[in-house]
Amino acid sequence: MNLELNREYPTLDEARLIEEMVKIAVGRMKPQQGRIRRGQHAKATGCVRGVFTIRDDIADDLRYGVFQKPMQVFQAIVRFSNSAETIETDGKGDARGMAIKLMDVAGSPAIPGSTNRCQDFLTVNSPVFPFATPAEFVEFFEIREMPFVGDPLALAWLAFSNYRHLNIASEILSEIVTSPLELPYWSGSPYWLGSAETASGHAVKYSLVPGIEETGPPQDPGNMAHDYLHQALSRHLKTREAVFEFRVQSQTDPVAMPVEDVSVVWDEAVSRPIPVATLTIGVQDVDSPEGRALAEECETMAFSPWNAMAEHRPMGGINRLRQAVYLASQAKRAAKN
Ligand code: HEM
Repeated sequence: MNLELNREYPTLDEARLIEEMVKIAVGRMKPQQGRIRRGQHAKATGCVRGVFTIRDDIADDLRYGVFQKPMQVFQAIVRFSNSAETIETDGKGDARGMAIKLMDVAGSPAIPGSTNRCQDFLTVNSPVFPFATPAEFVEFFEIREMPFVGDPLALAWLAFSNYRHLNIASEILSEIVTSPLELPYWSGSPYWLGSAETASGHAVKYSLVPGIEETGPPQDPGNMAHDYLHQALSRHLKTREAVFEFRVQSQTDPVAMPVEDVSVVWDEAVSRPIPVATLTIGVQDVDSPEGRALAEECETMAFSPWNAMAEHRPMGGINRLRQAVYLASQAKRAAKN
């Protein structure tokens, strides 16, 4: 098949895979510390207010959706998290998430008929996801569901069926991190950045680069406090703001930079990420009564790649799978808590 730029290639079995994934994901959501938590990214390491400012020099061909007007400012809520479905000590290896919600965004939504008025960007501290497609991800979870032997068997299956993907997972799990404010983040999956009505635009991935250098990982993460990442974020924001450069990377080769395989890195030397906005997280006390109230509110909020304007529509199989799974996870949390 001759692949084209900026196009999606859904497979015929997706509806069944999505249905199966929703069933598994919702079934795995058990109460933790008094309530049903998110199906993934159960533990927040911080929830903060920020400001998202579009750059004054944004290129004309990237001016779509929230990036339309140079210097436009959006109020944002940012939730930092560990990606596991269970609440674990911060020293345990995990992907680290950063979910950004831009408030009061006007325009047509990516899901027709949705009343959503925000634009979310969901990112983790890895440019790739250890599963290429919905089929691979669902198979991994189906094996995990087997009583007693599920988890080790799923890992053995991954090692046997795709060693490269096992390596991505191992790299993510072995990275020792210092603070959620010192990490780079990537969307991993692709998004449309273009006109809501016409084909003019690009498939892109997003990334964020922190304005501060990493201070060096803790010597012995196993002996750190269970919430050391929250403590690092809290300490930092008491006296200093944190700034991230928000960048978009366009797909320039439909084979080397696939839309349907999120385990492949889009080479940043081949298609350079372009800075389009700045996320500023101002000085704030996340442990004050106001900070804690925001954290509480954040736990009830719904972040999703599909809380998006049509100009930022999620693309690719993993994102198509995510639509129903996030809605189901959010519905279960809302119903049970
Ligand atoms: C590139 C791939 C992915 C990235 C970057 C990503 C990132 C994230 C982030 C940052 C969050 C936390 C949002 C928050 O703080 O509220 C999240 C939540 C979640 N993710 Fe993903 N994710 C990916 C793929 C997937 C896949 C394939 C699934 C399962 C099919 C999944 C299921 C979930 C669920 C169920 C939640 C919780 C939703 C809720 O109840 O609000 N994610 N994800």
